[in-house]
Amino acid sequence: MPMMEEAVREVYKNLLPEKMVAADLGCSSGPNTFLVLTEVVKIIGKQCRQMGLQLPEMQFFLNDLPGNDFNNIFQSLDSLKESVRSDKDAATVPHFVAGLPGSFYDRLFPSHSVHLFHSSNSLHWLSQVPEGLESKGKYAPPNKVNIYIGKTSANIVVKLYQDQFMRDFLLFLKQRFNELVLGGQMVLAFLGRKKKDIYNGELSSLWGLVSDSLNSMVLEGLVEEEKLVSFNLPFHAPSMDEVNAVIKAQGLFDIINFQMFELNWDPNDDSEDDFAFDSIQSGENSALCIRSVLEPMIASHFGTAIVDELFSRFAVNVAKHLVKEKTKFPIIVLYLKKKEQI
Ligand SMILES: C[S@@+](CC[C@H](N)C(=O)[O-])C[C@H]1O[C@@H](n2cnc3c(N)ncnc32)[C@H](O)[C@@H]1O
Repeated sequence: MPMMEEAVREVYKNLLPEKMVAADLGCSSGPNTFLVLTEVVKIIGKQCRQMGLQLPEMQFFLNDLPGNDFNNIFQSLDSLKESVRSDKDAATVPHFVAGLPGSFYDRLFPSHSVHLFHSSNSLHWLSQVPEGLESKGKYAPPNKVNIYIGKTSANIVVKLYQDQFMRDFLLFLKQRFNELVLGGQMVLAFLGRKKKDIYNGELSSLWGLVSDSLNSMVLEGLVEEEKLVSFNLPFHAPSMDEVNAVIKAQGLFDIINFQMFELNWDPNDDSEDDFAFDSIQSGENSALCIRSVLEPMIASHFGTAIVDELFSRFAVNVAKHLVKEKTKFPIIVLYLKKKEQI
């Protein structure tokens, strides 16, 4: 949020737009959906009051994939109005909200029309499962029972994931570069990898516990092995070096700030300790959180019948893991400014 605050202030101070366009990419549909919008409106209102500037009219776009529950967002707009009205600065800013279905790997806006982009917890989702992970003729899929890069993944699997991330992230940056006005900025936060060993990254550990849970169900005949070996996540958690290399090689954005912080797997655990106080409860909380993300993908590939059993096994596996090591989610936060000359 401090980076977002700086970005909003800088964009407004430098460009003084009469009409300001901002977009949240991967907004989802739930309690967090209006968080960024509300903060941006508060920051603009406060800045204009403090500096005696004229208030801009704000157009705010909420983007997600077409399958997102946009109706739920639209039906919740009254609650947004209430929370904006309750803040004296935000209440002064005229703002208009629109839903924007589409992939952020495609063009979403006309050229040079957006002042500010925000995206959190979304860019680790790739545009597709990397090609080459499927079975070919008589050859079995190369990633075996892993559903992401894991300790037993072949080198080729790592390369396929890294290449897919690089292609997707380059495309994302190119699209946003074309859409941003000169002086436009963006703040991006997504899952990354802190550990050096890519086969044993933090998210490899987490998804490894899902693979273990699925595999135990294969061994008991509850899941077909063929289903498991053909399931891979369209996901990649890059290291800071991987991200930096893409931005530098492409050369369309200046990096204003670049940081990594950590979050506990258990969303209810806000301690900074390196041990899990109640590993069983944390296992259950983490399983609920991961289920909210993974359930649609699991249900469409394996069927809905296995979902409850899978996540109860996963909760136990997470609890056992947390006793040995309190692995956390590394979050990469990037604050980028469109280059004026390339
Ligand atoms: C975990 S939610 C993040 C929600 C919210 N931004 C937050 O931080 O709480 C990830 C969202 O990214 C969306 N998403 C994934 N790939 C996308 C894409 N290519 N284009 C747009 N949205 C995408 C998903 O549909 C999902 O709603």
